[in-house]
Amino acid sequence: MTELKLLTPLKTDTFEFKNRVWMAPMTRARSPNREANDLTALYYAQRSAAGLIISEGTQISEQAIGWTNTPGIHTTEQIEGWRKVTRAVHDAGGLIFAQLWHTGRASHPDFHGGALPVAPSEVPFNSQAFTPEGPKPTVTPRALTLDEIQSTIRDYEAAARAAKAAGFDGVEVHGANGYLPAQFLEDGSNKRTDAYGGPIENRARFLLEATDAAIRVFGEARVSVRLSPRVPYNDMGDSDLEGTYMFAVEALEARKVGILHFMEPAQLPEGLKLLAPEARKRFSGLFVVNVGYDRESGERAIATNLADAVTFGTLFISNPDLPERFRQNAALAPSDPSSYYVGDERGYVDYPPLG
Ligand SMILES: Cc1cc2nc3c(=O)[nH]c(=O)nc-3n(C[C@H](O)[C@H](O)[C@H](O)COP(=O)(O)O)c2cc1C
Repeated sequence: MTELKLLTPLKTDTFEFKNRVWMAPMTRARSPNREANDLTALYYAQRSAAGLIISEGTQISEQAIGWTNTPGIHTTEQIEGWRKVTRAVHDAGGLIFAQLWHTGRASHPDFHGGALPVAPSEVPFNSQAFTPEGPKPTVTPRALTLDEIQSTIRDYEAAARAAKAAGFDGVEVHGANGYLPAQFLEDGSNKRTDAYGGPIENRARFLLEATDAAIRVFGEARVSVRLSPRVPYNDMGDSDLEGTYMFAVEALEARKVGILHFMEPAQLPEGLKLLAPEARKRFSGLFVVNVGYDRESGERAIATNLADAVTFGTLFISNPDLPERFRQNAALAPSDPSSYYVGDERGYVDYPPLG
C-alpha cells in the first residue's frame, strides 16, 4: 500500500508539520469561567497527532464575547489556563495555534450587561446567539466608531501577545463564519462610508489590520487567516463574493501570511464555481482547505495540489487519533452533536483511540 499523501510531513522554514491532517477550530463551550483548564488540556493532548491543532475560537476581549462558556485570551488567568494546554500538546509532540475570535454583531446584549453588540454597521439580521439561557435571536447591533475600531485592533495585538505568552505556536485570525472581520469584509453587513466601508479596499481594512497586529507579534509565518466565502451562517452575504475574497487573498499574499485556511465545501451544488482553486493560485503560503472532507476527498485535495493540508472538524471530535485511523483505513467513530456545545467530559475526552 502506498503511503497516503495526507500523512506525509510538510516542511517550511519555520515548521515541520508531521502530517497534513490538521484539526479544525471547534468551540466546545466547556470553560464556565472563560478559562482553559485541565480538561481542555487533556482534550487537545488527545488530539496532538494532528499535524497542527487550531484551537477553538478564543475571545480577544470582553466585548468580543458572544457565546456561553467559551474561553478568552485577554487576562492573566486565561494565559495560565492556556499554558496548561500548550504544554500538554507540546509534550505529546503536537503543535497548536490559538484562534483569535471577535463575534461582533453575532453576540447578544446578555453578554454585555444589556448593551448592544458591535458591528461595522447598524444592519438588522437574522441569527441566533448561544446565551447562558440558551439560544436567543440576535439583535440589530450598533456601529463601531473609528476610535473603537483602533482599540479593537489593539485588542487583537494584545491577544496575540497573550497567545505567545501562553506558549502557542502561532495564531489564526478568525475571519470566517460571519464574525467581526467577515462582517467588515462582506457588503451585506458593512454599510460604512468611512475608511472601513464602501469599496473592497476599505472593507478589507479591518481584517488586514487585525492580521498585521498578529504579524507584529508572531511574524508572518506563524499567522493563519481563516476565510469562508460560501458560509451563509450568521446571515452573511456579499454582492461579489469572488471579487471580495480574491482581493482579501491577494492582500494576504502581499503580507506573506504563512497559512490561508479556506473554508469551502468539498462538494458544491451543481453550477456553483469553486473559489478554492482561484485562491490557491493567488497564494504562495500554505493553503489549507476545510468543510466536509473525509479520507478520500482529503487525499485527493493533496494529490491534485488543491491544498497543502486539510483540516477536519467533527471527525476529530470522535476520532482523537484520526491520522492513525486514516493510515489503517480503520472505521471512524460517529460524533454526537448533542454534546458539541454542552456538557462535561462526556462527548469531549471520552472518545477512545483505536484498540
Ligand atoms: C462543534 C463545532 C464548533 C465549531 N467551532 C468553530 C470555531 O470556534 N471556529 C471556527 O472557525 N469554526 C468552528 N467550527 C467549524 C469547524 O471548524 C469546521 O469548519 C466544520 O466543522 C466543518 O468541517 P468538518 O466538515 O470537517 O467538520 C465549529 C464546528 C463544530 C462542529
